[in-house]
Amino acid sequence: SSPADNGTTSHPNGTLQQLPHILIIGVRKGGTRALIEMLSLHSSVAAAQNEVHFFDWESHFQRGLPWYLSQMPYAFPDQLTVEKTPAYFTSSKVPKRIHQMNTDIKLLLILRDPTERVLSDYTQVFYNRLQKHKRYQPIESVLVKDGEINLGYKALNRSLYYVHMQNWLQYFPLESIHIVDGDELIRDPFPEMKKVERFLKLEPQINASNFYFNKTKGFYCLRDHGRERCLHDSKGRAHPHVAPAILQKLYQFFHEPNKKFFELVGRTFNWK
Ligand code: A3P
Repeated sequence: SSPADNGTTSHPNGTLQQLPHILIIGVRKGGTRALIEMLSLHSSVAAAQNEVHFFDWESHFQRGLPWYLSQMPYAFPDQLTVEKTPAYFTSSKVPKRIHQMNTDIKLLLILRDPTERVLSDYTQVFYNRLQKHKRYQPIESVLVKDGEINLGYKALNRSLYYVHMQNWLQYFPLESIHIVDGDELIRDPFPEMKKVERFLKLEPQINASNFYFNKTKGFYCLRDHGRERCLHDSKGRAHPHVAPAILQKLYQFFHEPNKKFFELVGRTFNWK
């Protein structure tokens, strides 16, 4: 490959690497993998395989945009490139850095009920530890300290959506950020994906027949040119049981922050 004059890298078959036009910024455990896979159904979209962590990891960021570009997939010139790194949403230095790269970039943010997201976050860490043959405290002893919600538990902070959203709105207008309802994407992905398509001004192409419910998995899976596939087993795992009284405390904990978020974005969500 050779550098072209627009800062992109071109390949003999007519494809080239381009800096992302679209970013899926989070939230962690919101359904970011499902979203990027479903978006990839569209022929005008080229998605990076891995989470690049360019804007949030110092060692990556210092390598500069040429390195970031080198992480992008080879795409046709008329395709839009998308990357997803769920940690971007909750990293306060990231919005400014993205804005410096491209003020017009389109941002996708997929959110889930904050309590559900915490349980999913716990489950993720639990399995990561299990893989390393390490133990993890039971969910309830992470969530509760001295009979109250344990504010020191980091996963709670990641579910305080308004706190993070405020940082983004300092650099990007609401019109640049499309929020995908992650609970709806689980329940019925097609309508959510049509909204994404519209936001990105893509030619309508994603079809109801691209999705089918897989009873064994308990989630929708994808049908792409006749090929059927579900997301990895690590997506859609059972969450630990939490005593109803503690769950209730969690819902209460998020009630005010959720209200603040709804006001910030001028939209409400069906969160408990
Ligand atoms: P759980 O595993 O806790 O259920 P992320 O990709 O951002 O890590 O998000 C993972 C979450 O995506 C899963 O969390 C799951 O609920 C959700 N998800 C949404 N649509 C899905 C689908 N079609 N198949 C599997 N998981 C899906």
